[in-house]
Amino acid sequence: MAEKTRELVGERVDDLIELLNKAYADELIAYFYYKTAAMLVKGIHANTIADQLIEIANEELEHSEELAERIIQLGGEPLDDWDAITKNANYPKINIPEDRGDYVALLKSVHEAEKGAIDVYAQLIKFLQTEVKDPNTFHVVRHIIGEEMHHEEEIETLLGY
Ligand SMILES: [Fe+2]
Ligand SMILES: [Fe+2]
Repeated sequence: MAEKTRELVGERVDDLIELLNKAYADELIAYFYYKTAAMLVKGIHANTIADQLIEIANEELEHSEELAERIIQLGGEPLDDWDAITKNANYPKINIPEDRGDYVALLKSVHEAEKGAIDVYAQLIKFLQTEVKDPNTFHVVRHIIGEEMHHEEEIETLLGY
């Protein structure tokens, strides 16, 4: 399975798959919390924030699909169990404030999550430049980190930073 692809990527292909699966878990978790937060947020800016969160959530879901596709191309399997998703994630939880009207606290949580995502992909890029040279995975990760940087900036705009 994926014989030539795995040969090209080299000995550490399974380490790469593991890192991609951790990022995959982060993306599904972000999707879940952003979508949930969009449904729960209250207050005068609720619609604006919900619209932005849904737009970002849908991009996180796309990221999860892009990662899963690459994992399969590498001869691996995306995580198949929600316990494994929370156990393997770099960031297993995003805090949704009890006070549903405290959108500043909510946006700060999302901001932390986006900064965390940028870190995860920056580390993956480093790994792909030094440990496992795989231009195809690099291309996928390079695309995703660009969108995470855009998310960071969108959330900062809502926070007035
Ligand atoms: Fe993402
Ligand atoms: Fe993001």
